[in-house]
Amino acid sequence: MTDLNINIFEARRAKVASNMEENSILLLSSSHIVSRNNDTTFPFRQDSNFYYLTGFKEPNSVLMLKSDGSSTIFCRQKNPDLEKWDGFMWGFDEATKHFKFNKGHDISDIDKLLPAMIKGTSVLYSLVGKDKSFDAKVVNWVNSANSMERHQTNIDLKNFSNILGFMRLIKEPEEISLIRKSCEIAAISHKEVMRKAKVGMTEFDLETMYLNEFKFNGSREPSYTPIIAGGSRACILHYVDNNQAINDGDLVLVDAGCEFGLYASDITRTYPINGKFSGEQKAVYEVVLEAHNAACDAIKVGKSCIDPQRTSEKSLSQGLKDLGLLNGSLDEILDKELYKEFYYHKIGHWLGLDVHDDCPYSINGEDIKFKENMIMTIEPGIYINETAPVDDKWKGIGIRIENDILATKEGFENLTPQVPVEVDEIEQLMQG
Ligand code: GLY
Ligand code: MN
Ligand code: MN
Repeated sequence: MTDLNINIFEARRAKVASNMEENSILLLSSSHIVSRNNDTTFPFRQDSNFYYLTGFKEPNSVLMLKSDGSSTIFCRQKNPDLEKWDGFMWGFDEATKHFKFNKGHDISDIDKLLPAMIKGTSVLYSLVGKDKSFDAKVVNWVNSANSMERHQTNIDLKNFSNILGFMRLIKEPEEISLIRKSCEIAAISHKEVMRKAKVGMTEFDLETMYLNEFKFNGSREPSYTPIIAGGSRACILHYVDNNQAINDGDLVLVDAGCEFGLYASDITRTYPINGKFSGEQKAVYEVVLEAHNAACDAIKVGKSCIDPQRTSEKSLSQGLKDLGLLNGSLDEILDKELYKEFYYHKIGHWLGLDVHDDCPYSINGEDIKFKENMIMTIEPGIYINETAPVDDKWKGIGIRIENDILATKEGFENLTPQVPVEVDEIEQLMQG
């Protein structure tokens, strides 16, 4: 079962309302159907914030939530003729009952109805900057409402993203179950493809196998475009062409995760296509693995969410120095950020409904501190580009290791432990 109980969404709305200023209103838009080319469209994916507060998965919808806790849904009118083409639609009456909103209206009437509904409110919240077309509509509705009554205080428009993001940081038990499942599907898929990977397979072959395993194991969609990067293409962080041959002796870096019940997983493994790490590949891999393990240990309730970043910088710098890839004292390497030649992204990100979950890392200038049931990816990497000032034998090696980590009372739990991560485990699996 991928759908959460409707009561969960209703309870979230009540919690959000209790965090809103008195006499305020929050407006949230669904995602839109996006054109791919001519008259074909991308698969519809509901906006994560809208889904978080409604459970409603249709496009062309708007939620209005008042600080008194009452909610109104604007969505499509039921249309049996259209349903013959596009499938089931709730219609605003049934959607109101099923999803436990207080009122429902036809979305076609929103411009007519909304200004009068928000007139007299002190504050109007929306997720400013996330959807330009919706931002423009909100401004028009506010202007219309303000112009209805000249002698009232104007509505104050405020951004709500930090309040909602802060709430989404702590995962509820039902969310953790879905994320666990998403992680399990991604992890067993990674393991299965690693077991089958062989010299002669291309990046495209591997991509096909990962996507097939995700679906076979119960996930409809990947949570982002997979990265299947053979050889030095691993040094391109957002490489998604996935269309080259992989040479015997090369590593392949695979960053691939899936979605389950709209919740994301996000895993990276780097392995030799021929099943055996070379000396240099193994040496760099061990440095990344040590940094990964140290960064996981830095996930502790009460500690700053930036600690894993600092830990990874220190650990990778020491490892790069030990390999002779960086010179100078550890302090100098850290102070001058010399490690950025080889480690040019951050250690990880919050994970949830979005793969890069839409949650803050600091509030009012203060780092967020880990609390139980937050989930962060840990994904250190070393990328040795052709331009790096090092011996040729290291060039073209790009390695990242990524797991999805739950903060627990005791420390942390790796939600993706099913994929081998140690050098000998990987070699054993691949050499079968
Ligand atoms: N797959 C995107 C990331 O690792 O952040
Ligand atoms: Mn990733
Ligand atoms: Mn990631």
